[in-house]
Amino acid sequence: MDGALIPTARPVIGQAEIDAAVRVLRSGLVVQGPEVAAFEDEFSALVDGRHCVAVNSGTSALHLAVLALGVGPGDEVIVPSFSFAATANAVRLAGAEPVFADIERGSFCLDPAAVAAAITPRTAAIMPVHLYGHPAPMADLVPLAARHGLAVIEDAAQAHGAALGDRPVGTFGAAACFSFYPTKNMHSLEGGMITTADAGLARTLRLLRNQGMEQRYANELVGFNLRLTDVAAAIGRVQLRQLPGWNAQRQDNAKYLDARITAAVVPPVADAARHVYHQYTVRILGDRDAAQAALARRGVGAAVYYPTPIHRLRPYLVGGEPGWALPETDRAAAQVLSLPVHPSLTADELERVADAVNSLAGAP
Ligand SMILES: Cc1ncc(COP(=O)(O)O)c(C=O)c1O
Repeated sequence: MDGALIPTARPVIGQAEIDAAVRVLRSGLVVQGPEVAAFEDEFSALVDGRHCVAVNSGTSALHLAVLALGVGPGDEVIVPSFSFAATANAVRLAGAEPVFADIERGSFCLDPAAVAAAITPRTAAIMPVHLYGHPAPMADLVPLAARHGLAVIEDAAQAHGAALGDRPVGTFGAAACFSFYPTKNMHSLEGGMITTADAGLARTLRLLRNQGMEQRYANELVGFNLRLTDVAAAIGRVQLRQLPGWNAQRQDNAKYLDARITAAVVPPVADAARHVYHQYTVRILGDRDAAQAALARRGVGAAVYYPTPIHRLRPYLVGGEPGWALPETDRAAAQVLSLPVHPSLTADELERVADAVNSLAGAP
């Protein structure tokens, strides 16, 4: 196959984003100014009016959420191993220890029974990840956390606009964290947002992101510099306005692929879940890596998120070995393949994706 592959992501930096960036640069107010405040206000509508605190990445958002909730040395936080490393890194960076729990076969998100089994007297929090844009089973995880007095921190880095019933992700936990990395459903080049219903926690987060200061040079605690630029926030505001349409297009694209694909296991959606398809991830029951190579030969890009579960990555080994037995996590890591689903796919490209998948040998 000659030419470029149909990519798994096509980040939008259009004229509106460029105009917004230029407008801010000309204004001279470029760091944590009016654009950041407006971005926080506007993002709040996505999370039922919760307080929003913008920072410079999704990783910073998770790190600050863990710190602001007072989770640190001696504490354990239950996380999925089937996620991007930032989920566990945020826990470690705060001085606490991630404890890995297995996932559900259907949603690829934390399995509440596995979480319950992982709770110890040191557990301080649970960090569910709404992986691929599918909401984690919050109807079980939130009451479980409440029964044990644990904080819930949502990793919503991949799930802007996802919901369970009428309730959007970002409204279930004591805090929730979004990423605006370019490949996400919306971006701000780099950026992150923490959402919370707790005004006191929001204030602590604002202090932590800016050297512990609310008033300049009146430092109240030891903080970081994790501020977002106004250029990033202005781009984020442009993208936020597009998000509903883009998510609807992702859902339409997923519906098409669901109906057409016969040679792989299409992604299940839990009852009441509004999946926003950050990724459209199938399971290949044969040789996944050979399938990925065969798709590439037919001009279809596909990606594996994530080939190595976090508990198998070097920083998280225990005595040089994986410290947890997570069979569903390992199964997913061996089988998953994410196909192009982004909103700028043409009808022709979508058809080519489905045809290429259906040409794979060894289909289920
Ligand atoms: C599940 C998950 N958590 C956290 C992050 C970290 O976000 P960022 O790249 O903005 O730091 C990402 C994305 O990159 C992610 O996919």
